[in-house]
Amino acid sequence: MRLDRFLSENTNMSRKEAKRALHRESITVDMQVVKKGDVKIIDQQVHYEGVLVTIRKPVFIMLHKPAGYICSTVDDDGISVLDLLPEEMRHGLHIAGRLDKDTTGLVLITEDGQWSHRVTSPNKECYKTYLVEVELPLEQQLIEQFKAGIQLENENKLTKPAQLEIVTEKTARLKICEGKYHQVKRMFAAVDNRVASLHRESVGPLSIEDSLASGQWRDLTEQEIQYF
Ligand code: URA
Repeated sequence: MRLDRFLSENTNMSRKEAKRALHRESITVDMQVVKKGDVKIIDQQVHYEGVLVTIRKPVFIMLHKPAGYICSTVDDDGISVLDLLPEEMRHGLHIAGRLDKDTTGLVLITEDGQWSHRVTSPNKECYKTYLVEVELPLEQQLIEQFKAGIQLENENKLTKPAQLEIVTEKTARLKICEGKYHQVKRMFAAVDNRVASLHRESVGPLSIEDSLASGQWRDLTEQEIQYF
């Protein structure tokens, strides 16, 4: 791997900042000052301002999203769920399946694009479970309708089979494996109802445990990372 990439992946510097550090002669490779970013790093010791740069473990996080936070990585969109993480961790992270600002529940955050693709791609059939509160009473026939697929506005295909469990008159648990824009809200709108509140309980086999309060996060275990 190139030295500039090695630095941006394993420190909090961006590629540009790494280049500046190289020009400042702040980087050594096997104790020799190196100014060029294209030097190949295999197993040499890289120091930045005298501190050894160690290979950073990739980040995989589960976070309990509170309402009012957005799932964006762009700074000026509003307060992001990434703002709940320490600043030095945020660099290079993205959200594997976004939730709306008013939706609460399980959010997965990583820097591994292939892993998040396995979480979000409808073809991978990773089911997300939502606890949905609606404004009008739920009818039993909805179970079959959601299973057969729903025609959403401005979409040319029916939604993939979804599993609906009616919990109370106005509460249901919905399992879907797609993540179209506002999908759950649009599914209920398509059957003349309206979502009053939405909470994501789980993604595939991963659920938020009771001990993870709203706004808190934790690293995934090796076993949990391997689920996807
Ligand atoms: N579907 C929605 O409508 N909103 C979400 O936040 C998630 C799924």
